[in-house]
Amino acid sequence: MNAKKIDPAKLGFGIHFTDHMYVIKYHEDKGWYDGGIVDYRPFQMSPASSVLHYSQEIFEGLKAYKTPDQRVLAFRPEMNARRMNRSAREICMPELPEDIFLEAVRSLVMKDREWIPDAPGTSLYIRPTMLGVEAFLGVRPAKEYMFYIILSPVGPYYSCGFTPVGIYVEDTLVRAAKGGTGDIKTGGNYAASLLGQMKAQEKGFPQVLWLDAKEHRYVEEVGSMNVFFVYGKTLVTPPLTGSILPGITRDSVLTLAEDMGYGVEERALEINGLLEDVLSGRVTESFGTGTAAVISPMGSLFYKEKNYVINNNQVGEVTQKLYDRLVGIQIGREPDPYGWVCELGKMDGQ
Ligand SMILES: Cc1ncc(COP(=O)(O)O)c(C=O)c1O
Repeated sequence: MNAKKIDPAKLGFGIHFTDHMYVIKYHEDKGWYDGGIVDYRPFQMSPASSVLHYSQEIFEGLKAYKTPDQRVLAFRPEMNARRMNRSAREICMPELPEDIFLEAVRSLVMKDREWIPDAPGTSLYIRPTMLGVEAFLGVRPAKEYMFYIILSPVGPYYSCGFTPVGIYVEDTLVRAAKGGTGDIKTGGNYAASLLGQMKAQEKGFPQVLWLDAKEHRYVEEVGSMNVFFVYGKTLVTPPLTGSILPGITRDSVLTLAEDMGYGVEERALEINGLLEDVLSGRVTESFGTGTAAVISPMGSLFYKEKNYVINNNQVGEVTQKLYDRLVGIQIGREPDPYGWVCELGKMDGQ
């Protein structure tokens, strides 16, 4: 099976997996050992493995692209390596040396490069993951871990593609609180978000906008995206105060926006004030940013049984320009003055 055989329209997101995976083990006494590429296959692990009981689990998400001149590119992979280690420190897991992370990504993607799709909007999603695998019961950091990477050829995150989505603003449930783990990529954050997501979907909205845990008033982030609100020529996004993920796409958009002549502000957005600004038209556009969804326009916010439509539910000019610029750099169509794009190799293996 290779990706060329999968109809791009049927790729979906995270459904298909490639032929191989990278695995490396860790023991407190030995450090990292036995790393290499193996066939994609189920794991054997003890039912007492610590991850299954105490959730020592972290992961990352990044993408590889194939360019028209047959180069294989990844976008800012060193940022993922660094963020994974920040996640590791926060829940007492071992750090993986960045060079091992980056070489594992490179060698695995190049091994399975025939799986990289090339239709517009498609890519090869890369999922590094680390688990506590020591078999024991008791609340303490594990002494044994496994790090692995799997690959999935993907289409757009939302089946509707680059069209505005309606967002449900959750005013009761909480995803993460300051001082907790909301600022790292650990599975528990996502488990805590499922009930809210189900609630949103029952009401007909694909995603939840989370508010702060203490007052339920300040905008945090959407399920797997950071959020931006456009006030004319200025972009506003919540600051990184500890309960939201420091998104790599967020960071890239802040840089691009400034260089494209827009103002950028990282400041608290109080939900009632924000919705007044939507009603008055001061908020002219809104979008989410994330590796999976790239830049995803938000067409409306549903809060306390009332719907607030942004920009007539249309993709705005600023959103479109940022999307074109970012994707242009990611897929190698536009020059990259930032050194963000990392060439993993060439399709002919040279
Ligand atoms: C909770 C959450 N917020 C934001 C993001 C966006 O981060 P990035 O742009 O690094 O993909 C993600 C996705 O990784 C996420 O899971």
